[in-house]
Amino acid sequence: TRVDKAGYKHFMAKEIAEQPVVLTGALGHYLNGDEIVLPELGIDFARVERMVMVACGTASYACHVAKYWFEQLAGLPVEVDVASEFRYREPPITPGTTALFVSQSGETADTLAALRYCAAQAAPIVSVVNVAESSIARESDLALPIFAGTEVGVASTKAFTCQLLTLALLALKAAHVRGRLSDAALAERIGELRALPGLVNQALGIEAECEAISRRLAEARDILFLGRGRMYPLALEGALKLKEISYIHAEAYASGELKHGPIALVDKTVPVIVMAPHDELFDKTVSNMQEVMARGGKVLLITDSAGAAAAGDGVWGLIHMPSVTPLLAPILYAVPAQLLAYHTAIAKGTDVDQPRNLAKSVTVE
Ligand code: G6P
Repeated sequence: TRVDKAGYKHFMAKEIAEQPVVLTGALGHYLNGDEIVLPELGIDFARVERMVMVACGTASYACHVAKYWFEQLAGLPVEVDVASEFRYREPPITPGTTALFVSQSGETADTLAALRYCAAQAAPIVSVVNVAESSIARESDLALPIFAGTEVGVASTKAFTCQLLTLALLALKAAHVRGRLSDAALAERIGELRALPGLVNQALGIEAECEAISRRLAEARDILFLGRGRMYPLALEGALKLKEISYIHAEAYASGELKHGPIALVDKTVPVIVMAPHDELFDKTVSNMQEVMARGGKVLLITDSAGAAAAGDGVWGLIHMPSVTPLLAPILYAVPAQLLAYHTAIAKGTDVDQPRNLAKSVTVE
């Protein structure tokens, strides 16, 4: 099927804007009332002892978020690795291990090789894919489509949020099957997920704020992203998006690692983007932020109204996100990561949909 830009300047802009619609579609496919309906599981999550999650690029950051969900909600230990490392390390796949692969294209060579390695060790294989007829989907015991529709922009946007939603559903299902979530608690979580498309739509309303601050970001040579807990993978994703399409050097750190190195880079020329919903780790992140500001660093705080009220004074920039539950926060905060990268790239005049040296799908090693 041929897709066009539907009036948008770039595929990336169209794909960012489409998120409320595709997320609604994915929820429709996977939910029936208060029940999560997955294709014939074939994998008994009550008996899974450990998971390995393997992917490349943005998909690997979706795995890092999913690790928190599977560990905290389902009590399942998870290891995450990038496929190019995993496949050559010959990691032992102990009995009880389920292997999960995330790939938009379903054709990434390293991810497919890692899948085949696990299949050869007789591990059950789950995949989370956008292209349902891809190699990775075909070679899985359970392939979960993400229903993002065709993604053209090299920088993944709607596929990332749809990967996260699908992984959240799988983690909730596993938690329920494992007796860690009651029917009532599951129904409550499902209610939260049903609110996601509306919240993403609301979050898209920060575009003008992002555009204005991006003109200032475009002047930087280096940019740091910080996040804690479930927001750390979002910081990684924000830095990846930004460097991919604006060619500005960007790096992400877990906020607590700031004093173990990156703080040495902080001066008044380095914007530090802090992704911090007002959650149980907020105060810790704020103290990291203050360390940056005490050294003249320019903090761009992305937070909700409670976070802005508690810590918005004296920051260089502030992006106002809707308030959100901890389950949804990492999905929702993908939106500012995308919009900041997009508008910084526009300000720099780069080729947003086809950034230099990058391919949409890396099918050779
Ligand atoms: C390339 C793309 C990224 C993508 C990664 C993994 O690097 O530019 O956007 O995240 O491959 O691709 P996959 O299709 O396996 O998700």
